[in-house]
Amino acid sequence: MTSSEWLPWRVAMDRALYGPEGFFVSGAGPAAHFRTSVHASPVLAAALLRLLDAVDRALGHPAQLDVVDVGAGRGELLRALLAGVSGEPAGRLRLTAVERAPRPEDLPAEIDWVNEIPDGTTGVLLATEWLDNVPLDLAVPTEDGWRYLLVNPTSGEESTGDKLTPDDAAWLTHWWPTPADDSLVNTVRGRVEIGRARDEAWAYALGRLDRGVALAVDYGHLRGDRPVGGTLTGYRGGRQVAPVPDGSCDVTAHVAVDSVASAGERVARCAYTLVSQREGLRALGADGGRPPLSLASRDPAGYLRALAAASAVAELTDPAGLGGHWWLLQPVGVTLDPLMAR
Ligand SMILES: C[S@@+](CC[C@H](N)C(=O)[O-])C[C@H]1O[C@@H](n2cnc3c(N)ncnc32)[C@H](O)[C@@H]1O
Repeated sequence: MTSSEWLPWRVAMDRALYGPEGFFVSGAGPAAHFRTSVHASPVLAAALLRLLDAVDRALGHPAQLDVVDVGAGRGELLRALLAGVSGEPAGRLRLTAVERAPRPEDLPAEIDWVNEIPDGTTGVLLATEWLDNVPLDLAVPTEDGWRYLLVNPTSGEESTGDKLTPDDAAWLTHWWPTPADDSLVNTVRGRVEIGRARDEAWAYALGRLDRGVALAVDYGHLRGDRPVGGTLTGYRGGRQVAPVPDGSCDVTAHVAVDSVASAGERVARCAYTLVSQREGLRALGADGGRPPLSLASRDPAGYLRALAAASAVAELTDPAGLGGHWWLLQPVGVTLDPLMAR
């Protein structure tokens, strides 16, 4: 049945992803539909344990060392960190998944599961591919200025709605400046994605971190290079599909990472680091070098293991794929260059 309802994209996306039958809260979870760095290999967890170690030292080995994973999926990353952690910090570690989906039945008891970002974190706050799923509004230039795009939640058809609020208009002017071009009026190529909701979400998350480092990993873009027409798209069952906000697919848009970083900096009041995942992983020791061929004859099993590890790193650092994702590292209340502290 086709709905005659027209909703702002932000409302439609929120319902489609997080409503009662929402894509992320019912069903098999993100890993069944697309591959993130978390699913791709344990290499990410190993690098993040190195980051955690550096943060622990910078914090002076607190009695409780938190890892909070915001938008935790089915807890895949925290499970990998729990499996990989060794030595003394293991006893001080508190792992918390923040998720709108229900707690998976098979989740280890050591991992807490909550649906709001907790206050008072000391340690590391992670958000891998969370911000691209924070619902946002879209706008299009019309004859009388910028207007919100509305969407029909069952067909995905679009129409134009109200004029932008002053806050959204100001965001657009500053963070997504577009040349005046009559040929873009009311066209798909004229669409822009208003990232203010992601800025607010990140600022809120940073406000919950007392001391430590927050890391957001996501696909995104910078002010000088915003994608013409935006990036809104859908995923279902491993395929890219039309972003119809009916709960049957992921609806996602790349993140304006520089704007998010700036919003975070205002809360954290510490300088941030914004690098590609490739640079981030390399700085944390995942170099992806292939093992020497001579190892193959000396230790064939060791050679195969090293080769598998190298290809896992290669997948995560491929500049045309996951390696092109952004890492935004934001220290709070601690002096540390997170990628130099190994
Ligand atoms: C694309 S998945 C990423 C999952 C995992 N972090 C990974 O990288 O594989 C985004 C997840 O964020 C969750 N999510 C989105 N907004 C949230 C919020 N405000 N609080 C908690 N979880 C949220 C969704 O339910 C979904 O499971």
